[in-house]
Amino acid sequence: MQGSERMKNRWFMWLLGTLCIIGVTLFIASFMQTSENSLLCSITRARQQLTGPTTSMQLRAILHYATSQIVPQQSLSEITVTFDVLQALNRPANFLVFGLGHDSLMWAGLNAGGTTLFLEEDPKWVQTVLKDAPFLRAHTVNYRTQLREADQLLSSYRSEPACSPATATLRGNERCKLALQNLPDEVYSTEWDLIMIDAPKGYFAEAPGRMAAIFSAAVMARDRKGSGVTHVFLHDVDRKVEKVYAEEFLCRKQLVKGVGRLWHFEIPPRANHSRDDERFC
Ligand SMILES: C[S@@+](CC[C@H](N)C(=O)[O-])C[C@H]1O[C@@H](n2cnc3c(N)ncnc32)[C@H](O)[C@@H]1O
Repeated sequence: MQGSERMKNRWFMWLLGTLCIIGVTLFIASFMQTSENSLLCSITRARQQLTGPTTSMQLRAILHYATSQIVPQQSLSEITVTFDVLQALNRPANFLVFGLGHDSLMWAGLNAGGTTLFLEEDPKWVQTVLKDAPFLRAHTVNYRTQLREADQLLSSYRSEPACSPATATLRGNERCKLALQNLPDEVYSTEWDLIMIDAPKGYFAEAPGRMAAIFSAAVMARDRKGSGVTHVFLHDVDRKVEKVYAEEFLCRKQLVKGVGRLWHFEIPPRANHSRDDERFC
């Protein structure tokens, strides 16, 4: 009897030991699986943060351009200059665009997750565009210039202290006609990573011309407080006014690329400008 009791105890101990080993193995395996899952989740999350999940803006852009006969005026190689900068930044950017057009949804889609703000001269055109794309953010701008004044403004701005590169501001700067002085606060308080100048109209004498947009972009870029440069893109540089104003305010030495009719400038903050502040360039 004693012998069979001992056998039973030994058998029971063996069974208990085996169950314990299986239990501990299962526990460790399930723990490993959970941490593996959470590792996979974090990798996926990190990758999504890096490349970004597809946003509603991007989907709307795909839908729009897949069903529209009208395409942006800039060519693929011109658009690619801005596209490459947005890709290289690898983060949502602050993108200020002069002009609403058939390219607007494309810029907003390429900067999905960032802030893309449009400044448009024509209030009726703002309404027309926003009726179909109310998710775009646009403000109407009042220009105080006309294209026919371009030469005179260029030769006289140096004698107006309010236009001086050392001190020129934009908000409320009524004395400097080249300063866009009456924009919404958001435009002044945001540090723009990219500024696209593809408006206002500059192809007839009474049109506002791009003089004030170019001057104001230069002032904004030079006022940058954060790290890095401001990327300024100017379209229609085959025209005299665009070219001459770019050379005066955006500077040849800061021109990093020219493709088709588009120039790309990288403008450092004023603290980094090596020359004294008597000239923009
Ligand atoms: C040279 S266009 C820029 C066009 C833009 N890059 C594009 O691809 O559509 C600049 C200005 O023309 C005007 N504009 C452009 N398309 C228009 C349209 N279909 N009807 C009325 N005005 C338009 C707007 O005032 C705009 O700011």
